Amino acid sequence: MIGLLMGLMGCDEGAVVNGADSTGDTTEDSAGGAPTATWYRDVQPLLAENCQSCHAADGITFGLEDYAVASAMAGPIAAATAAGTMPPWPAAEEDCLPLKDRRALSGDQIAMLQTWADQGAPEGDPADTPSDTTDDGPGIETDLWGEMASVYVPDDTAEDDYRCFVVDPGLTEETFVSGAVVFPGNYSVVHHVILYTDPSGSADALDAAEDGEGYTCFGGPGFEDTAVIGGWVPGSEGLLLPEDSGLRMSAGTKVVMQMHYHSDGTAGGDQTAFALDLEEEVGTEVYLIPLADTNLNIPPATTDHAEGFSTTFSYGLDINLWGGTPHMHLLGSSIKISVTPPDSEAEQCIIEIPQWDFDYQQFYRLEEAYVIENGSKLSLECVYDNPTDEMVGWGDGTGDEMCLVYAMVSL
Ligand code: HEC
Repeated sequence: MIGLLMGLMGCDEGAVVNGADSTGDTTEDSAGGAPTATWYRDVQPLLAENCQSCHAADGITFGLEDYAVASAMAGPIAAATAAGTMPPWPAAEEDCLPLKDRRALSGDQIAMLQTWADQGAPEGDPADTPSDTTDDGPGIETDLWGEMASVYVPDDTAEDDYRCFVVDPGLTEETFVSGAVVFPGNYSVVHHVILYTDPSGSADALDAAEDGEGYTCFGGPGFEDTAVIGGWVPGSEGLLLPEDSGLRMSAGTKVVMQMHYHSDGTAGGDQTAFALDLEEEVGTEVYLIPLADTNLNIPPATTDHAEGFSTTFSYGLDINLWGGTPHMHLLGSSIKISVTPPDSEAEQCIIEIPQWDFDYQQFYRLEEAYVIENGSKLSLECVYDNPTDEMVGWGDGTGDEMCLVYAMVSL
């Protein structure tokens, strides 16, 4: 099995990013004596902070903003939160490095939702609403706004329609991206979005070769010289880079928006937009590097088939690791990246997704940068279940697989 460390900035495949809700404990009042939980005082603020990035009227799934709807769902809300299925957070809780933005409720919060359901979902007094109950998002400045040139109606004959749209931001000088937020135009059809750079203008030819706006692109944007600068998946609010850092974009670079659409043909068209926070200079240049095992041979009719690599990371210097985006396709069942420091036997799990779900992918930010010392052993393990009667290998197609982590690093 061959482990590949592809070069800095030379990637073909995307990082989906996320800056999801923080978890605030809003239950102190109710836990501290009074047994009653009410909608206005306890439940609504908790849902606003932890659930409504997905559960909103214009969001990806049913809204949990109104008392009428939420109170009718009090039982399922208590059950889903107690079971830990909501809010979804696929990364391993234990043994790996602490992550930012973790979507999780505290034991007190889960108990409060159960109490609320048990008591018949009392509404309470609007005057008890805490003053600051909304989540203010990643808070980037919009220096550059880009959007698809026109409304695109996804192909409903293909269950999954991967389409790339080229946006020319007219960059006359080199710049650094320090934050990116994507605004899906139609949540009913947009499954995920990845923003790729195109410094060499390769996408224009691909666009010209196909009828209509944009071009077909699974996996990546269809050319090698590219980097990921942002994206959107259900629940994500944006990509915020570490303080005083940025991803370089050279003058003339275009942005390719890779849209993954999933449409039954009734939900209409989409025109997605994005905002970039740009800096002329940054103290630290960060890079997104793909760590991948591209030599995959997943035999037919197998379960728990492991692929991946272990390699010694020796570039003569230490590297700061800020986070990463694990990526596989539909057959993946788990993925884990770990580091064993030199002179150590102890493997440190960096990020693990114990139950891979193609629909919940994101960029995971480490709480603190992890220093990969020169000479460390770096391991990536990808596990697959292949129910098909075909050998499956690496590739861009839906039926192909990947074993990849986009790591955000700096020197
Ligand atoms: C990252 C997006 C996301 C977040 C955040 C999220 N949900 Fe969900 N939730 C979904 C999606 C998508 C579904 C629909 C799942 C399906 O249809 O398979 C769902 C379904 C549900 C259901 C239906 C029953 C079930 O278990 O499938 C309940 C109840 C629910 N969510 C409650 C919550 C609550 C309460 C929170 C916050 C504490 C929350 N969700 C946060 C995406 C999210």
